[in-house]
Amino acid sequence: MHLIYLFLLSIFVSKADGNSRKTIFQCDQHFDESQPEGVIEFPSLPKQLALSHGVNNSKPEQQYNLQCVYTFVAGSRQRVRLEFDHFLLSGSSENCDIEYVDIYSEVESVDEDILSSALGGRYCGTVAPHVRISLRRVMKLVLHSRSTNHEDNHGFRAKYSFIPEDKFIAGEPVGGKKCSFIIDSSDRKIGTLYSPTYPGTYPHNMHCSYLMKAGRGERIRLFFTDFDIFFGGEHCPYDSVTIFDGPTPASPIIRKVCGLQQRMEVYSMGNSLLIHFNTTHPAKSDPRGFIMDYEFSTRFVNIDKLLNKQRGVTHIRGTECDVRVESNRETFHTISSPNSIQPTPPAPTSFMDFRESRTWRRLYLPLIL
Ligand SMILES: *[C@@H]1O[C@H](CO)[C@@H](O)[C@H](O)[C@H]1NC(C)=O
Ligand SMILES: *[C@@H]1O[C@H](CO)[C@@H](O)[C@H](O)[C@H]1NC(C)=O
Repeated sequence: MHLIYLFLLSIFVSKADGNSRKTIFQCDQHFDESQPEGVIEFPSLPKQLALSHGVNNSKPEQQYNLQCVYTFVAGSRQRVRLEFDHFLLSGSSENCDIEYVDIYSEVESVDEDILSSALGGRYCGTVAPHVRISLRRVMKLVLHSRSTNHEDNHGFRAKYSFIPEDKFIAGEPVGGKKCSFIIDSSDRKIGTLYSPTYPGTYPHNMHCSYLMKAGRGERIRLFFTDFDIFFGGEHCPYDSVTIFDGPTPASPIIRKVCGLQQRMEVYSMGNSLLIHFNTTHPAKSDPRGFIMDYEFSTRFVNIDKLLNKQRGVTHIRGTECDVRVESNRETFHTISSPNSIQPTPPAPTSFMDFRESRTWRRLYLPLIL
């Protein structure tokens, strides 16, 4: 039995309002995993019903008020995915009062009052919401309309589906938090981490933390294959991803980033890394978050051995084996290629950074080993 429950599709309120007759329809619909995917469309008022309440859709002057709540409830270990392929409502992004869609993608339970839920975004005009993925099992979409626009292509169409939540469970969840995980090398050496609700627009006012714990002698490599975080300014004062070179926020920061990044790669110095993903207010651009591959391995260059306690030679944080050689007077340093005794594939690339005081000169010598 496939079920699209039409809970209420017949409530109306009519009242005299000057000359025009206002009809408020409620047209709530409920979807659950008994139908794994489907399409919702507006306008979708059955003609018969509209007519029986005196609404003639072909008469532009006829006004009605509409509030439809679409509730999507995923099964256990599932999320709701919603993707719009047509969107043309009245109004413009600055002025959404005649007709709009509100999306609530962080709803805890079906019974939760949407007035107390975080609004994930309000959309109208021609700017369609991007893909949405619920943070938990429930997503609600509320359509408000008192538009008199009855043109043919006016309305929206979206495809919904229920998807497995596995890929959003990055590791061992930490104490009831929505998106705090410990990722331990003893569970797996290689993995992929998706930010919550990726590639759907991420929730605002969210704090996620990922603690990566490597084993003895291992270092950690992160590689971001997609990265789209709202760019709020040079030092990322709003949404950001911060990578700490150690287990706590007191550890040195390798990088704090936002905006669009391509193929960003980061190595830990030792055997732990902490990642914070903090978001603030709703971003107009509907950013999608990030995908990050990670690897715990002993094959990465051992920094202590590489530097061999030489004064003035430092490792450049976040890289596998780039070093900086700094000197005030004539000194002698030995730079040996990492793992020079037994080369291990794939060969790392090192960059040496020589600095002299006064005449500040920078010189990179790529040594392909
Ligand atoms: C609805 O309005 C159109 C255009 O004014 C008219 O042709 C049509 O007969 C009306 N339908 C009903 C059922 O009133
Ligand atoms: C992220 O937000 C949490 C909670 O508000 C805060 O404790 C933490 O310091 C923030 N992290 C960064 C890097 O700003």
